[in-house]
Amino acid sequence: MSKRNQRRAEFYGAAEAKGYYGLDKTGIFGKKDNVRKFWEDISIKLLIRPYIENLMSVNQKIRILDMGSGSGEGFDLLTHIPSNSKSIYNEYVLLPPQIDEYVGIDINLDAIEQGKNNFKDFKGVSFEYGDLEEGIDKRLLQKNAFDVYISTYGSLSFLNPDDFKQLACQVFSHAKNGSLFIFDVHGKYCPAWPVYWNEKLSMQPYTMSYLNPSREAPQSDTEYFNICYWTVKDLKFYLERAAELANVKINILSFTDRSIFVGRHIDTGMFSTKALPIRFLINRMLDHDYTGGVESLKLDLSHLDQYRDINPEAWERITDYQRQWNRVLILLEALRHQDDTRVKNFLENTDIELMSEELKFITWLYRNSDRFPVVDFWSNVIGPQIAVILRNIEMSYIEGVGCGHGLVGMIEIIK
Ligand SMILES: C[S@@+](CC[C@H](N)C(=O)[O-])C[C@H]1O[C@@H](n2cnc3c(N)ncnc32)[C@H](O)[C@@H]1O
Repeated sequence: MSKRNQRRAEFYGAAEAKGYYGLDKTGIFGKKDNVRKFWEDISIKLLIRPYIENLMSVNQKIRILDMGSGSGEGFDLLTHIPSNSKSIYNEYVLLPPQIDEYVGIDINLDAIEQGKNNFKDFKGVSFEYGDLEEGIDKRLLQKNAFDVYISTYGSLSFLNPDDFKQLACQVFSHAKNGSLFIFDVHGKYCPAWPVYWNEKLSMQPYTMSYLNPSREAPQSDTEYFNICYWTVKDLKFYLERAAELANVKINILSFTDRSIFVGRHIDTGMFSTKALPIRFLINRMLDHDYTGGVESLKLDLSHLDQYRDINPEAWERITDYQRQWNRVLILLEALRHQDDTRVKNFLENTDIELMSEELKFITWLYRNSDRFPVVDFWSNVIGPQIAVILRNIEMSYIEGVGCGHGLVGMIEIIK
């Protein structure tokens, strides 16, 4: 073999060893599936965008502490917030060189090693071992205050309420005026785990078995650990006690429900009486290769009826979202069957003020499908667009009630 061919063989050998030639399951399963990228990440980014923009308008560089950082997903999230500007040269609100320091803390040494490797070429980025149950390490507290104290995708749910309060107290004491505390914990009234709706604030079992690519029924060796499922009221209470302890004022900017129907466990049914393959189907809709399956997206939540009186506010939110969600699917069905009378009636009589423009747009898209230069109009255009509309309905609810897989809190510290 010539030297050049040998080098090429080595290159492809290395690529194969890294898994680049394995079966392509990207997007449908796993930690960074389509729903995480195009639904969950986007919801969080749009929620925090105005506050990060605000920070960038008064600081040239900012400092970030990521608690339960995994391998630096928070860094990625913060540096890929789409800019509001229509200019293609102004991609993101915050760029890596605008970060003075990013410190990721995690209890998992493998995640830390992965993070160090992922970001080895980035200046000012470091990862440290730390158990947040013990609070933030003293060495880190000797550093200058951070502008953003962030924790994404449920890391702080691993703490019991008192440890959460102690951690929040440390954050509030260490922060400076205007610093942000952004976190995402598990919402108690998520439709994926009605078994917990009646429980008092306490640690309850959870599992991440959904990351197992086999998608088979739960195995007997499924690993469970305890996490805290939070209500808005309890969170407020513990945050206010933490602020009192730290002797600072806080401004609770928002609590928002993330992933009400697309949370990971909606598909497993492990904490409910019924599994609904909603996340799987939305993952497929967001994929540009798949067509179909939408009939099963229509939500039937009758199995939750027995829980309806536990929290009327959460119930009202869940059923309102279900109604709006299903209306999108009814329209889609009419379009697919070319039932023009039904489409017309639907559009004229829809009482969903907020959605009417988006639904008219979908109808226009559908009726103009011949004008799109794509091979598969359904999977390339309509499928992803419907998923985005369903996401936008969720994002239109301003005040969270704790009915999402994630409950995202945004706190400003005032000193
Ligand atoms: C669901 S993952 C989220 C990781 C990352 N923030 C993300 O956005 O993907 C939860 C993380 O919290 C970490 N964690 C759990 N308990 C912890 C503790 N007591 N102290 C520090 N990290 C912890 C885990 O090791 C894991 O990396």
